[in-house]
Amino acid sequence: MQKIGAVVLAAGKSTRLKSAIPKVLHSVCGKPLVVHTVNAVLEADKVSKIAVVISSEFKSEFESTFSGKNGITFSVQKKQKGTADAVLAAKNALLNSCEYVLIIPGDVPLIRPETLKKFIDATIAHDVVGGVLSMEPLDSAAYGRVVRSADGRLKAIVEAKDASPEELLIREVNGGVYCVKCRWLFNALEKIAPDNAQKEYYLTDIVKIAVSEGVKMIVARADDPDELLGVNTRKELAEASRLKQIRILEKLMKDGVGILDINNTYIDDGVIIGADTVISPNCSIRGGTKIGKSCFIDNGVIIKNSVIGDEVIIKPYSVIDESSIGDCCHVGPFARLRPGAVIESEAKIGNFVEIKKSIIKKGAKANHLSYIGDAVVGLRTNIGCGTITCNYDGQKKHQTVIGNDVFVGSDVQFVAPVKIGSGALIGAGSTITENVPANSLAIARGKQVIKRGWAKKRG
Ligand code: UD1
Ligand code: MG
Repeated sequence: MQKIGAVVLAAGKSTRLKSAIPKVLHSVCGKPLVVHTVNAVLEADKVSKIAVVISSEFKSEFESTFSGKNGITFSVQKKQKGTADAVLAAKNALLNSCEYVLIIPGDVPLIRPETLKKFIDATIAHDVVGGVLSMEPLDSAAYGRVVRSADGRLKAIVEAKDASPEELLIREVNGGVYCVKCRWLFNALEKIAPDNAQKEYYLTDIVKIAVSEGVKMIVARADDPDELLGVNTRKELAEASRLKQIRILEKLMKDGVGILDINNTYIDDGVIIGADTVISPNCSIRGGTKIGKSCFIDNGVIIKNSVIGDEVIIKPYSVIDESSIGDCCHVGPFARLRPGAVIESEAKIGNFVEIKKSIIKKGAKANHLSYIGDAVVGLRTNIGCGTITCNYDGQKKHQTVIGNDVFVGSDVQFVAPVKIGSGALIGAGSTITENVPANSLAIARGKQVIKRGWAKKRG
């Protein structure tokens, strides 16, 4: 088997996006463009090594983007002088360890692993110096034009900015993906000069060099031009997100997930959802979220990096962030689960309830208008309407620990740190500042005074 390395080009700026962060770190369906590209390369399972070419300015951002991923190294391009110069930056990483180099821009988030695999195999099978992946999109836009000679052989790739009016009419364009013999590539790159409209070192000039040396390069055409959509503008970023989103939703529906409105549902790449779960319109499900089977997620729910069990109902406009919800729970409407909320099975969290860094044990309920932070709420305990854990003293956070089968009346404040024993009953309107023993009644409120006739006399 041939040894193949990959270069992912990611050092470019965000000129056309008009953004301070590099283009390839902009996200499509929850993952940066360059992560989609690298994932496709990894899944194609053809390369032994990936060199990502980056600019030194954003080194730490790229390192954290890829932390924990094996087989990836970074090569720094000192100045952004063009795509040929970017590939040269990876010379040391690849020259002595690979026979072929797959070159791929970090701005093609829709490329499929199968397409890369087929392309690499075809190039190697032809035993040529290299191959270029082309496409025929509806609009050739700013892509480089694939110029062929009368007999159909690849003659040149001409950038739109350098093309003649006739060349601009060519429908077949450069997808920006190449597979090239390693030694030949790095020799050819040294010969490229920036003699073009943009005064850049164009990688596409390797075609001219191959022609002048009388060696052959082939062109393989991708069947689906969407796969090679290169994101250069905000409009292309939105279009790539739309196309990726459709793919994600179609895959989920194929696996038995109900999507009520495919035009208004936003689910990140990598989210896992079980069969018979239904997602209503305007939901946004992000990051590494995992949702079980037979759940109903109602309109406008936002879920981020959370784990949700089976048969859970999440009612409209709830926001769930870095939390976990057990089987058969009901949450919302308008509930807010902040990081560290752990809702065990069969619990109920109702409207306008905010929970942070707290465990709500099996079968417990907080149905209305409460704030529960840094707390443990025991099995089957009922939290009355308007209950607040006063967890912050202005400097530190403190815990409220409530036992099993406690009944908390409405409008109770727990001034933490405080512990309530199992089976206790807390009278409505109490401000609890001291621990309450198990099975006791605690009432901490002003006594009611009645003055008969007083209001009438006041007139
Ligand atoms: C490039 C091709 C064009 C092709 C298109 C496909 C060239 C000269 N043109 O144009 O023929 O149709 O891709 O999408 O290659 N980059 C660097 N360092 C640089 C410049 C760019 O790392 O100095 C990176 C960018 O981050 C990007 C990739 O290389 O990921 C491609 O650069 P980009 O500016 O997007 O090239 P296009 O104009 O799209
Ligand atoms: Mg591009």
